[in-house]
Amino acid sequence: MKYNHFFISKIIIALVLTLTTVFAAAKAAAPVAAPVVAKSTKDTPLTDAQKFYGTELKSSKKVVHPPYAWGDCTVCHKDAKGEKGLVMDPPELCAMCHEAKDGKKFIHGPVAAGACTSCHNPHESDNAKLLVASSINELCVSCHQDKDEFLRKTANIHPPVKDQCTNCHDPHTEDHLFQLKADGKKDLCVMCHVEKEVWTKTVTDKHGALNRPRKCLECHDPHGSSNPKFLIKDTSKELCLTCHSQPVTTDETGEKLMDIGKHLENNPDWHGPILWGDCAACHNPHGSNNLRMLNKPFPRTFYEAFDEDNYICFQCHEKEKIMDEKTSTATNFRNGDVNMHFIHVNKEKGRSCRACHDFHGTKEYPHHLRAKTQFGKINFPIRFIESENGGSCAPACHARRHYDKVTPKVNLK
Ligand code: HEC
Ligand code: HEC
Ligand code: HEC
Ligand code: HEC
Ligand code: HEC
Ligand code: HEC
Ligand code: HEC
Ligand code: HEC
Ligand code: HEC
Ligand code: HEC
Ligand code: HEC
Repeated sequence: MKYNHFFISKIIIALVLTLTTVFAAAKAAAPVAAPVVAKSTKDTPLTDAQKFYGTELKSSKKVVHPPYAWGDCTVCHKDAKGEKGLVMDPPELCAMCHEAKDGKKFIHGPVAAGACTSCHNPHESDNAKLLVASSINELCVSCHQDKDEFLRKTANIHPPVKDQCTNCHDPHTEDHLFQLKADGKKDLCVMCHVEKEVWTKTVTDKHGALNRPRKCLECHDPHGSSNPKFLIKDTSKELCLTCHSQPVTTDETGEKLMDIGKHLENNPDWHGPILWGDCAACHNPHGSNNLRMLNKPFPRTFYEAFDEDNYICFQCHEKEKIMDEKTSTATNFRNGDVNMHFIHVNKEKGRSCRACHDFHGTKEYPHHLRAKTQFGKINFPIRFIESENGGSCAPACHARRHYDKVTPKVNLK
């Protein structure tokens, strides 16, 4: 896993925080110390900078900028007291000693404006990297107030965002839009979500959504959202229908796929998972190795030798309805106790469920029975008629035949 560093650093941070709390508690218990003059107090450990440059300077801060610790104020100021202004303004001042912070294609607003000191105290600070705020996120949201509100109010925040903005953004300059450490539409995501890179590249049925201009961001908000999995829409159904409310063409075979939005509008008796708004209950939005990116296999053709592992349907429906040759409970599609599902599906030349059912939505008949079944290039109407204890149909496959749960019907051959 690529984000080991992320977790390890979290553990280290947690440890440091615990230790700091312990020390703080011990310190709080001790009598109040006199104002700190680093050199003369025994109990104040010297900072690295003080050890290196000497301890002339009074500082009670945890981090002291070495040139400030030197005590030669005229490195940066025109005079020793710092009253007559600077020898030059940032960023040039800082660039005397530091490499330029604006060398890449995209430069953060305040860096471009030379406002180094809006984030760093040039002298000393209690915060790492001489920052003017106690954490990186606090620093960022002190200017980006919409993000402050976002962090406080959003239900599901992406963990690296909660941790620190600089997991993805460079505070100064980067070669990618928004100073991101890699292209934010996908490359950045798969730096940490390596498994998604492998998956989306190796599955046989790839999803065209990932080739759309915003890639991962077509569906996810990188910072988080009020929806599960940081989706940009309330449900996966709404999300899918942003693109599938028109016919789309598959990238690999050039097939024209049906307009699911229109289909659902015209067929208001929706299949359970669609009523819940969950297209992802059956389809993997990142592609899969099954027909139509299904989460589990489903027969590709009208006739297929029956294999219980070949039906995603059994994730939610009991397989007995197809497996048991005789039953008085497993299904209502039976003639007496003769299981008509078994007869149609469970054989060498078995018909897949699509012969009779539609998996998205239907209108004419109950039980998600489809109005027409596609056989080769022809669409046969199935002409279903419901009866009190069963029903009958007359597709092109055979003349009208009846089934009845209570009083089995005799059908002429
Ligand atoms: C690394 C460069 C640097 C060094 C060394 C430095 N300063 Fe400064 N100092 C600055 C900058 C930059 C500012 C302007 C800060 C701002 O823009 O708010 C500043 C501002 C000041 C100010 C104005 C008030 C304030 O704090 O904003 C005083 C006074 C001052 N410095 C005194 C000193 C003294 C005294 C020393 C030596 C002990 C010293 N500085 C060393 C860079 C430096
Ligand atoms: C005279 C040289 C000099 C100048 C000018 C200078 N710095 Fe530094 N700065 C240093 C040295 C030396 C260090 C410590 C070594 C290091 O971390 O690279 C340092 C460290 C830092 C650090 C890291 C502190 C840490 O905790 O690791 C920051 C941030 C920083 N400087 C910002 C600035 C800014 C902003 C300016 C301009 C206002 C500036 N520096 C000007 C010499 C300088
Ligand atoms: C928007 C806030 C912000 C501004 C503006 C900013 N910095 Fe920083 N800087 C940071 C943060 C945050 C870090 C710590 C990065 C980290 O730990 O990943 C940092 C780190 C540093 C460091 C130490 C690590 C390094 O990258 O070398 C130096 C030196 C530094 N900044 C110099 C500067 C200088 C010089 C300027 C002005 C040209 C500047 N910064 C402007 C936020 C800022
Ligand atoms: C001192 C104020 C300030 C701080 C602190 C600050 N920013 Fe910014 N940020 C700005 C300004 C100003 C812009 C430029 C806005 C513009 O161009 O519309 C900007 C732009 C950005 C942009 C590009 C947005 C766009 O629409 O182009 C990103 C991303 C960003 N900041 C992230 C951060 C992160 C991450 C931090 C913390 C490390 C941070 N900012 C801290 C002031 C700040
Ligand atoms: C997981 C990576 C990641 C982290 C962590 C992250 N961002 Fe972003 N950020 C992005 C991506 C990707 C974009 C580009 C979004 C787009 O193209 O619509 C972005 C865009 C932005 C923008 C410009 C567009 C906008 O949404 O306003 C700002 C400002 C910004 N981020 C600030 C922040 C701040 C502040 C934090 C920390 C609280 C943060 N980001 C943490 C990935 C991240
Ligand atoms: C710095 C590492 C990092 C980056 C970059 C990153 N993520 Fe994440 N992401 C995580 C971590 C850590 C989690 C929480 C652990 C987990 O569930 O895998 C997470 C969780 C998620 C989740 C929720 C997983 C779940 O099961 O609840 C989604 C969705 C997600 N990230 C999408 C993205 C997208 C899209 C991008 C690119 C814009 C992205 N991530 C960039 C580290 C990252
Ligand atoms: C077509 C929309 C769509 C696109 C494009 C997309 N995702 Fe997702 N993603 C989803 C949905 C929907 C879920 C929730 C799946 C569920 O509920 O089972 C999800 C879940 C996730 C999760 C949580 C773990 C999982 O697999 O369930 C991660 C991590 C994730 N996506 C990362 C990514 C990354 C990285 C990209 C880009 C390579 C990406 N996604 C592109 C729709 C999308
Ligand atoms: C950003 C647009 C977009 C979104 C959002 C989207 N799709 Fe797609 N989808 C496409 C495109 C374009 C194709 C055709 C290209 C391809 O996959 O070969 C496609 C193809 C498909 C296919 C057929 C795949 C094949 O090759 O057989 C299925 C099934 C599918 N999408 C389901 C979904 C589901 C379920 C969701 C919601 C989780 C969803 N789509 C969200 C754009 C999108
Ligand atoms: C109960 C499982 C299930 C759910 C839920 C589901 N689908 Fe499907 N979907 C299927 C199956 C099975 C197929 C293959 C149908 C076939 O080949 O006869 C399919 C096929 C498709 C196709 C290809 C259509 C074509 O022209 O061949 C698209 C696009 C699609 N689904 C999108 C969606 C969208 C969008 C949603 C949510 C509104 C959704 N699906 C919900 C099972 C499901
Ligand atoms: C994620 C769970 C899930 C999956 C997978 C699933 N179904 Fe369903 N199915 C349901 C739920 C819930 C209902 C009840 C609500 C309804 O009538 O749609 C249902 C109802 C049905 C009904 C109508 C029952 C009746 O008496 O009205 C049929 C027919 C059906 N499913 C067929 C299928 C087929 C065929 C598949 C495989 C392609 C399948 N289902 C996959 C959840 C699922
Ligand atoms: C030859 C047509 C046909 C085929 C093929 C078929 N079904 Fe059915 N199915 C029906 C009929 C007709 C009913 C309605 C029975 C009733 O209630 O009168 C039904 C009802 C159902 C029901 C509702 C509960 C029940 O069993 O009564 C489910 C669930 C179901 N079928 C799932 C499936 C699955 C899964 C497949 C594929 C493995 C499948 N069907 C294949 C015709 C078919």
